[in-house]
Amino acid sequence: MKTTGGSDAAKRRAGEHAAELVTDGSVVGLGTGSTAAHAIRALGRAVDAGLDVRGVATSYASRRLARDVGIPLVALEAVDRVDVAIDGADRVADGDLIKGGGAAHAREKVVAAAADRFVAVVDPSKLAATLDRAVPVEVLPDAQALVARRVRDAGGDPTLRTADRKDGPVVTDNGNLVLDCDFGEIADPGGLAADLSSTPGVVEHGLFVGVADEIHVGREDGVEVLPAADE
Ligand code: A5P
Repeated sequence: MKTTGGSDAAKRRAGEHAAELVTDGSVVGLGTGSTAAHAIRALGRAVDAGLDVRGVATSYASRRLARDVGIPLVALEAVDRVDVAIDGADRVADGDLIKGGGAAHAREKVVAAAADRFVAVVDPSKLAATLDRAVPVEVLPDAQALVARRVRDAGGDPTLRTADRKDGPVVTDNGNLVLDCDFGEIADPGGLAADLSSTPGVVEHGLFVGVADEIHVGREDGVEVLPAADE
């Protein structure tokens, strides 16, 4: 499912634009995916130039990239707060997001929740009128069948995410499985998010409702900043 298309130049514009928000002395949440990676590389260059930041990684991949580009890392549990978190998204509609194309949405949501400011960075291919992409749901392995039944009862079509270069399922950084749950066009993201969150065995789902403070969209000629939902 880790495919989103979109131009890399647009992703880079969005990521680099958001990285400029990071000020000296900040703790910054480092998102996962190809767009957030541009922000991480930009921050690495800023660190080389003297910026003092500490990064909180949202995944194995973002931690490794941050190390490669020289961003000092800190565990989320070791900081009181995150000043700004920058992360990608798979779909954006009315300020709400679907995330988890890279199966990192559980840690991404925790870091976003800890952040004073959560900035989503996307290319225009992610924008839609309604959230219409399958929702990634991280589940405890033993709960896979139970959660799949509950998703079907709620009108969804769950598919166990399988690995590309390994036989069997994708296993998250947390040792769990992912069900990609197709609900078609999601008319009530908040209601669905509440239903999924209350299902036993669900570790976290990829609906980010009312979480983003702003959305930076990389375009051919610059960056458009969209406001949060209901603004
Ligand atoms: C990771 O699990 C996701 O939430 C990513 O942030 C999302 O898939 C966006 O990735 P791209 O920037 O690569 O499209």
